[in-house]
Amino acid sequence: MSVLSVNLAENSYDIVIERGALASLGRRCRDVGLKGLAAVISNRAVAGLYGAVVQESLEAAGYSVARIEMPDGEEYKNSTTLNRIYDDLLDVGVDRGSFIVALGGGVVGDVAGYAAATWMRGIPFVQVPTTLLAQVDSSVGGKTGIDHPKGKNLIGAFYQPRLVLIDVDTLSTLDQRQYRAGLAEVIKYGVAVDPAFFAYVEANVSAILAMDPDVLIEVILQSCHLKAQVVELDEKEGGLRAILNYGHTLGHAFESLSGYRVMVHGEAVAIGMVLAARVSVAEGLCSQDDLARISALISRCGLPVEIPTFDRQLLLDAVAADKKSKSGLITFICNSGIGMYAMSHHTPEELLVLSGLEA
Ligand code: NAD
Ligand code: GLY
Repeated sequence: MSVLSVNLAENSYDIVIERGALASLGRRCRDVGLKGLAAVISNRAVAGLYGAVVQESLEAAGYSVARIEMPDGEEYKNSTTLNRIYDDLLDVGVDRGSFIVALGGGVVGDVAGYAAATWMRGIPFVQVPTTLLAQVDSSVGGKTGIDHPKGKNLIGAFYQPRLVLIDVDTLSTLDQRQYRAGLAEVIKYGVAVDPAFFAYVEANVSAILAMDPDVLIEVILQSCHLKAQVVELDEKEGGLRAILNYGHTLGHAFESLSGYRVMVHGEAVAIGMVLAARVSVAEGLCSQDDLARISALISRCGLPVEIPTFDRQLLLDAVAADKKSKSGLITFICNSGIGMYAMSHHTPEELLVLSGLEA
């Protein structure tokens, strides 16, 4: 078992990483002082796999449990789903003395976390991430929220969980495509933050793809550690935390233009990272060799590196919808070589040229 602390003064919490960790959820909720009714928010697929063990664990620790299901998919990460969750929270009697458990991938974690942040002005919640992407990224750091029809994650709150419980065994039921999508966020930490971690992933691709438990735990542990370090310095994204969006500016644009089922989040980030590395080359921050190394690792992890084509205006509009756009300029995260970020500021038009999307 590995335990990491995210040190954020009164909002500090632990990340527990362990095989079979779900069975200890109830006891760990007691350990962090959670009381009252536990409302477990999940979707049908994940609840069908892990709802019973989570409920048993919570009940064994003396909690009453209510189970709430939301539909499965990014297209349901919206205000309609959120309002239904509020209705359900009311129906099952979730009050200020209760807490929420988010059981699922990043979609469930973001929506359930935002419900927790806003229900009765905020009740405690626990993240129990069950996709690789959620285990290495979205469950840590307190970003919660929903999409707006005009852009991803436009509505949300910084709201930290009381505990993140990562059971790596849950990844055994995840399909290969979703597993690989999570690797995009893993590679992101290597390229933007830590050269040694990039080299570790490069050297262990086969074991990672084979889900070797020891290597997998190390990858999740290091990813959470790197993310926690950034979040501790800049919880509410005043500046530094934006580096965690490496690959996301253009990635989000492709994700929304393709339709969320056609290209899943991690695949869009993979393509966005190739383009970010190209911008970095154009800025003189990164060599062609490093660009080739980044692209090769993404590809070896089974992620797309081919750039899809879209109508220029649609692409510009999608890029301009980026949350990090101020007065028409986007804070774009580049890589300085491998393992170090650099920030630049560009208009969407400049980004199309620098990334080679437009001659
Ligand atoms: P997801 O939540 O849609 O999960 C992917 C699929 O896997 C779903 O169909 C889900 O039901 C299924 N699933 C989940 N766990 C499973 C398991 N153990 N076995 C079998 N199936 C399982 O997608 P995701 O990639 O986990 O998350 C993407 C979301 O995360 C996006 O909305 C993105 O914006 C968000 N995100 C948030 C942050 C943050 O900091 N809050 C960071 C990165 C991404
Ligand atoms: N995934 C980006 C962040 O948490 O800031």
